[in-house]
Amino acid sequence: MRTQVAIIGAGPAGLLLGHLLRAEGIDCVVLERQTGDYVLGRIRAGVLEQITVDLMARLGLDQRLKAEGLVENGFNLADGERLIRIDIKGLTGKNVVVYGQTEVTRDLMDAAPARGLEVIYQAGDVALHDIESDAPYVTYTSDGVEKRIDARFIVGCDGYHGPSRKAIPASASQEFERVYPFGWLGILADVPPCMNELIYANHERGFALASMRSHTRSRYYVDVPLTETIENWSDDRIWDELAIRLGPDAAAGITRGPSIEKSIAPLRSYVFAPMRHGSLLLCGDAAHIVPPTGAKGLNLAASDVHYAAEALTSFFKRGDHDAIPGYSAKALARVWKAERFSWSLTKLMHRFPEDGPFERAMQVAELDYVASSVAAQTSIAENYVGLPI
Ligand code: APR
Ligand code: PHB
Repeated sequence: MRTQVAIIGAGPAGLLLGHLLRAEGIDCVVLERQTGDYVLGRIRAGVLEQITVDLMARLGLDQRLKAEGLVENGFNLADGERLIRIDIKGLTGKNVVVYGQTEVTRDLMDAAPARGLEVIYQAGDVALHDIESDAPYVTYTSDGVEKRIDARFIVGCDGYHGPSRKAIPASASQEFERVYPFGWLGILADVPPCMNELIYANHERGFALASMRSHTRSRYYVDVPLTETIENWSDDRIWDELAIRLGPDAAAGITRGPSIEKSIAPLRSYVFAPMRHGSLLLCGDAAHIVPPTGAKGLNLAASDVHYAAEALTSFFKRGDHDAIPGYSAKALARVWKAERFSWSLTKLMHRFPEDGPFERAMQVAELDYVASSVAAQTSIAENYVGLPI
C-alpha cells in the first residue's frame, strides 16, 4: 500500500490527525495495535481546552460534545477548610468543557468510515523504516501476514509505549523526565458530582480531585504511594478518604456508590526532543507526558496535531517545504509551557514524602498568595484554559 501519511496509533492524537488530513484531501492511514473496543475501554481524563473543542467543531464532530459536554467557568483549590475558586471565565473570557477523552475518541472513531479515514486495527509488530529518507515505510502484521505501507511521512501517535519515539537515534535526541513519588488512584461511579465544578485538594493526608463525566457520573482521585495496590482500596475506603481530603463543604455533597472503574496510574513529567526526525513526526504522548494535575495530556495532543496537520498541509497542498522542519520547535514551545504548569500545580497541591516544614510553608504561602491576588489567579486561569496556539 502507498499513502501520503502513515499514522501510528488510533488514540485521540492519531484519529484527530487522520480526520484533519482527510478534511484537506490528504491520503493517510492509521495503524492501531489494539481493537477499537480496547481503545475505547481505556478510562482517561476529561477536561477539554477551547482549542480541542474548536478542532472537533472544525471537523463537524462536536454534536455530542455540545449536547453532553459540561461547560466549566471555574474550578477550585481546596486547602483544608479553605476553598479558593479560580474564576477562569471571568479572568480569561474562556472556559473548559468536561467531556471524557473516551467520548472524544469514540466520536472520532465513529466518523472515520464515512470520512474515508482508514484505520487498521489489530496491526501487530508495527515497525518504522528509512525514517531519515524521503521514502519511509512501515511494516506490520495483520492476520499473521506481514504488510508494508510506503508513505512520504510517518506520524507517531502511538503513546508513551509505542515504537515511534524509539525509532529516533539517541544521538539525535534528548529526554527530560521527572517521576513523581506517588500515583493517582481514580474511581468512576454513577453518582452525581459533589459540586458543579472541579475541586483540587491539598490535605495533610494527601491530594484529592473531585471531577465528573456528567450530572450523574463522577470521577474522583486520591494520590497514593507507589507501593499501593488497588486491592488495598475498597470503595468505602476511597469514599472515606475523599470526604476527609476534599474538606467538609465538598464532603457534604458526596454521594457514595459502587465504583464502575478504579485504577492507580503513576505520574511523570516527560519530554522527548526533537518531535521530528527526518520524515517522522511525533504527536501526543509519544513525545511527552504530563502529570494529570493540569488536565493537559489530551489538549497537548490536540495542539501537536494542529501544528502537524498545518505543516503537512503546507507541504502537500502548497509545496511549502519549510513548514515540516518548523514543526518540532512550534509544538515544543507549547509543550514546555504546559509541562511547567502541570509540574507547578502538582508541586502546589501534593505532599511530597521528601518535603519538610519549609516546603509545606511554601505551599501555604503560595495558596495564601493565590487566594489574595487576581494576578496569581489569572496566571493559573490562563494556563488552565490553555495558552494560545
Ligand atoms: N502499534 C500500533 N499502535 C500502537 C502501538 C504499536 N506498536 N503502541 C501503541 N499503540 C497505540 C495504542 O494502542 C493507543 O491506542 O497508540 C495509541 C496511543 O494513544 P494514547 O496513548 O491515548 O496517546 P495519544 O493519542 O497521544 O493521546 C494522549 O491519551 O493516554 C492519554 O493521558 C494521555 O490524555 C492523553 C492522551
Ligand atoms: C478527570 O475528570 O479525569 C480529570 C479532570 C481534571 C484533571 C485530571 C483528570 O486535572
